[in-house]
Amino acid sequence: MTVVGLGADHAGFPLKEDLKAWLVTRGYDVADFGTQSADAVDYPDYAAAVGSAVTAGKADCGVLVCGTGIGMAIAANKLPGIRAAACSDAYTARMSREHNDANILALGARITGRDAAIEILETWLAAAFAGGRHARRVDKIVVLDRGRGQESPDAQAR
Ligand code: RB5
Repeated sequence: MTVVGLGADHAGFPLKEDLKAWLVTRGYDVADFGTQSADAVDYPDYAAAVGSAVTAGKADCGVLVCGTGIGMAIAANKLPGIRAAACSDAYTARMSREHNDANILALGARITGRDAAIEILETWLAAAFAGGRHARRVDKIVVLDRGRGQESPDAQAR
C-alpha cells in the first residue's frame, strides 16, 4: 500500500483535510504530520516533517499544502533526496512525476480549489517516472544534491 505523507500550514489546513479524506476513500494509507488547526504556524516545519518521512522511507511520497505551494516546495527541496514540485494544474503534476521523478507534490490552497487539487493529486499519484533520458537528467540532479555548496567542475563563465 502506498503511504502518503501529508503536511500543511494554517493556509493549507482545510485543503489538507479534504485531500486526506479523499486519499482514505481511495485506499491510501495517510501519515498526517499536521498542522491540525487554522492557527498560524511556519510552513518549513511541516515541509521538514514530511520530507524527512519520505527520505527515511516512512512515506512513499508526500503532499504539502500552504497558501501558494511555493514556500513548501522551497523548504522541502532543501532536504537531500527530495524533489518537490509546486503544481497548479494536472499537466505539470504529471510531468513532475514522468520527467522529474518528483517525490513531493506541493499545492497552494489560495490558488487551487478542492476539486482542482484532487484532480492534480489523482493525476500525480497515477503517473510514474518515465526513466530513459529523464533518468540521466535526474541523476544529474542527484549529483547536484550530493554536492551542495560545491561548485560544479563543469561550471565555466561564458
Ligand atoms: C502563509 O501566509 C503563507 O505565506 C504560506 O502559506 C505560503 O503561501 C508560503 O509560501
